[in-house]
Amino acid sequence: MSAKKIALVTGTGGELGAAIAARLDSEGYSVVGLDLRAPATAGNYRHYSCDLTDIPALGATLEQIRREVGPIQLLVNNAAYYNPVSFWELTPEQIQRTLAVNVTAVMYACQQVAKQMRDAGGGVIVNMASIAGRGGTSQIDYGASKAGVINLTGTLGRLLAEHNIRVNAIAPALIDAGMGKVLPPAVKEKYLQTTPLKRAAQPSEIANVVAFLASEQSSYMTGATVDVNGGL
Ligand SMILES: NC(=O)c1ccc[n+]([C@@H]2O[C@H](COP(=O)([O-])OP(=O)(O)OC[C@H]3O[C@@H](n4cnc5c(N)ncnc54)[C@H](O)[C@@H]3O)[C@@H](O)[C@H]2O)c1
Repeated sequence: MSAKKIALVTGTGGELGAAIAARLDSEGYSVVGLDLRAPATAGNYRHYSCDLTDIPALGATLEQIRREVGPIQLLVNNAAYYNPVSFWELTPEQIQRTLAVNVTAVMYACQQVAKQMRDAGGGVIVNMASIAGRGGTSQIDYGASKAGVINLTGTLGRLLAEHNIRVNAIAPALIDAGMGKVLPPAVKEKYLQTTPLKRAAQPSEIANVVAFLASEQSSYMTGATVDVNGGL
């Protein structure tokens, strides 16, 4: 068992998840990463492999982490599924996968980890939403899933306050990582042209806000979704 605070970060197979894990490690957390894929970068964290669409496997992995590492004090729900296909080509399987990874798994992980936090006297959850969750995206499965993340973050912030568990989200726009790199070029170009800061975020600029929301510096924040979007 670790004497440090334990942080679980999902999606550490991607650059943003890896940047968040590295930042939390530098803040003194004992970091656990969870992903389908191997870690994006070699870092000072333990990796657990799990498919977030498999809820029994997710439950078993969370329990395994609790047993092997200890109770989770910080949960960062960062993993997500995004596949840029047009509305007309969208299949029921894709819709289900997007909602399974981006909403169902987030909701379930929040519930299971909140039980550990409640029993330990408190904790912090940070969910990765997106500007797409604020509306206006043509990728309707992804946009609806991220609207779900914003909604559940607000509700859980209120619901879990009495257990000393704070829940907040971050809504980035274009990041120079992962999904930001596979966006259709026209969509990417539109973001770059309309973003007042005229560039994509670096993963570290999002990880900075995760570290802030995880820390006591944000002790009066819960249920909020913070826009980190270059002014969009
Ligand atoms: N990159 C951007 O421009 C951008 C913008 C706004 C929000 N975001 C959000 O930031 C977060 C990280 O995105 P990213 O750009 O690093 O994406 P990414 O695709 O590089 O990383 C996402 C990670 O989630 C993992 N994942 C997906 N489905 C999974 C499953 N079923 N089980 C386990 N792991 C699974 C993937 O393996 C991957 O490693 C996401 O929540 C995304 O919605 C990204």
